Amino acid sequence: MTSKIADPKLAGEGEKNFLWAKEHMGALTALTEKQVRKKPLEGLTVGVCLHVTKETAVLVDALLRCGADVKLAGANPLSTQDDVAAYLATRTDVWAWRGETVQEYNWCLKKVLESRPEQLIDDGADLHVAAHTSNAKGIVVGGSEETTTGVVRLRALEREGKLRYPVVAVNNAQTKFLFDNRYGTGQSTIDGILRATALLLAGKRVVVVGYGWVGKGVAKRARGMDAKVTVVEVDPIKAIEAYLDGFEVTNIMDAARRGEIFITATGQKNVVPYAAIEKMNDGAILSNAGHFDVEIDVKTLLSKAKSVKEVRPHVDEVTLPNGKRVHLIGKGRITNLVAAEGHPPEVMQMSFANQLLAAIYIRKNHSKMEKKIYGVPEELEREIAYATLDSLGIVISEPTEEQAEYAQSWAI
Ligand code: ADE
Repeated sequence: MTSKIADPKLAGEGEKNFLWAKEHMGALTALTEKQVRKKPLEGLTVGVCLHVTKETAVLVDALLRCGADVKLAGANPLSTQDDVAAYLATRTDVWAWRGETVQEYNWCLKKVLESRPEQLIDDGADLHVAAHTSNAKGIVVGGSEETTTGVVRLRALEREGKLRYPVVAVNNAQTKFLFDNRYGTGQSTIDGILRATALLLAGKRVVVVGYGWVGKGVAKRARGMDAKVTVVEVDPIKAIEAYLDGFEVTNIMDAARRGEIFITATGQKNVVPYAAIEKMNDGAILSNAGHFDVEIDVKTLLSKAKSVKEVRPHVDEVTLPNGKRVHLIGKGRITNLVAAEGHPPEVMQMSFANQLLAAIYIRKNHSKMEKKIYGVPEELEREIAYATLDSLGIVISEPTEEQAEYAQSWAI
């Protein structure tokens, strides 16, 4: 094995965290148990680029137990949990540590591709894009994508006729985005801000930029802790939705003057532009919940800064030329994974059940699939939903035959 990780001595701690997550990911465990005897991934090398967390460890464990040879890199230079990486390195090849430079991050992806994986599991599409631009291109027969931003990038490849293999958009599964994007990011982003700042949320003016599933989750959780929440949206329909959900809705320049904590959740560039940052109150907090560090204009902010000082772990105090200070969390990278531990295991069990079943589905079906983006098949989604309910001890009603017929009929 050729792993590169921060410290192998952390493996014991990582195993404890893995076991803790596994205990709270009953649906993924149950679905894995259904598969292991058949070894559906036997002989398959799977290249994985995911945030290296205790929940990812449970997915890697499932892939290994289904027979795959897993090659793992982190999906962000600052998100790796080094203890988990150390534990996983006792079981497979891992190239990931917290605090990678951008060059090191790309080197880790290269190591995954040099292992000649036939299938890829990615979060953000960096591995897919690398596979499209390197020598690995002929070998990969299919892959999956975890996040909205990654699906957007892959759709662009598809539109240009450049997608080289079928990709299952796990992000677009209802059992993923309805829960992971909303409840997972909602809770863990607030968790990251609180761990980083240790400040009170009640009474604060929180500005949520973007009202997709992530923005909805963040706004709801902030309101739940008695913050005064303002939403900034460019989509008129989502803006109405936010308004009717009871939030103040405005534009970024207006929000900039009044907000105290700004949280971006758009997947778009420079939604908090430097011109807005200049207008903010002294001490404003800037946090990004999106996949890439492009949502807050950190580049201009740092290039104009009079000084930058780390005042707490994950909090940089940036002094502007006008003398005001802003506090940037996690360098503008994904707050929930940099300053907290990412989504809780109870939501990741559904996201990663989709990844596991998608990997098995691609293995069986790739030769019949086109170089296109596919959704997760409905029967797999239902299997995941029922397994999740089961893990929660919930038994739901089933429609009667009469109701099933009525649902298909035009008669009253
Ligand atoms: N993305 C967000 N939260 C995550 C987690 N806990 N593990 C892996 N990827 C994530």
